[in-house]
Amino acid sequence: MTKQDSVPMNDLRRLYQRYQGEIEREVANTLRSGWWLNGAVGKRFAANFSRFIGVSECLLVANGTDALELALAAVTKRNGMRGREVIVAANAGGYASCACWHNDLVPHYVDIQPASQLVDLQSVMKAASADTAAIVVTHLYGGVVDVRAIRAGLAEAGLSHIPIVEDCAQAHGARIGSDVAGSLGDISTFSFYPTKNLGAMGDGGAVLTSDVAAATHVRQLQQYGWSSKYHVGVPNGRNSRMDEVQAAILDVLLGDVDSRNGQRRAILSQYKLVTGRRLQFLEGGAGAVAHLAVALCDDRDAFRAFMKERGVDTDIHYPVLDCDQVGWADLPMKGSENLAVSRASVSRLCSVPCYPDMTSDEIEQVCLALREWEAM
Ligand SMILES: Cc1ncc(COP(=O)(O)O)c(C=O)c1O
Repeated sequence: MTKQDSVPMNDLRRLYQRYQGEIEREVANTLRSGWWLNGAVGKRFAANFSRFIGVSECLLVANGTDALELALAAVTKRNGMRGREVIVAANAGGYASCACWHNDLVPHYVDIQPASQLVDLQSVMKAASADTAAIVVTHLYGGVVDVRAIRAGLAEAGLSHIPIVEDCAQAHGARIGSDVAGSLGDISTFSFYPTKNLGAMGDGGAVLTSDVAAATHVRQLQQYGWSSKYHVGVPNGRNSRMDEVQAAILDVLLGDVDSRNGQRRAILSQYKLVTGRRLQFLEGGAGAVAHLAVALCDDRDAFRAFMKERGVDTDIHYPVLDCDQVGWADLPMKGSENLAVSRASVSRLCSVPCYPDMTSDEIEQVCLALREWEAM
């Protein structure tokens, strides 16, 4: 099999070809308008996206990392907030950890559930205390954390003042019951990195909330700390905004998020049908959106080599827990000794291609290879 025949983890040219007409029309209109930042197109997309998620406020920012950092700043820097720790899972790619350290907060790592790899309620409750400034829940791989259960646990422990930040970078349109991820916590963040379930053609991010005071704080922080033009109202501001061209593209793609999520789910279901013995695909819940097709497998190197021989690319999300990253070894952190499930899983994770523009031949090629691996 030649390299040309291999099934890639993603191919964004196909997305472009599919939406080319509409995207080129909207991008051209935006360029011709002569208004490329802070304009009507961003406002329109922000309004449409906040309606899609089901919250009142949406601030468009430069990327998902900024979104997390700004959201965490907004919910932890309120008067009277004394805690210094932020409860996070250690397996979610490092984004929440970065946001903590940039805010001078200490990540307190907690463990995950094996079948979903999502943060574990009991571990969260064990870590939660008067020192907790916030909890970041990452809806990893498109799976949905049961935020309501965490809220109920916090209320029972007398800790309902602790704000919950949802990192929805991998979960656009995911649902738990009829609630949409991003509307469950106190504030939520999104990345529109090109491969996301809703992706831009460049960088982009958003902070969403129905808390008007938190939204005002984020709006100030993303624009130099200004309370009004050239007047600084809060410290630690910076520039973080999405440009109008990206907003125009995202507004085109927003209408198809649910149907494309359905296509992702259908692909993952096919993989699940042919596996289960040597390879277990993760279970993110009924309303999960299959951002990635991630499986746990015992002999990962052999599996990856096997798939490569059959022309299927694979990847690892993510190879190192945040608490074990060499470059972060000297930074303050807690909880890294209590991560039995995270540690047992990290060397077994493997992702296979799963994106809406895969051809049926490619899906079949992946299924054939998976079936063969299972039969060995
Ligand atoms: C879970 C998660 N959070 C945050 C981010 C950061 O987003 P960005 O790359 O847009 O900064 C990413 C993605 O790349 C992500 O997957």
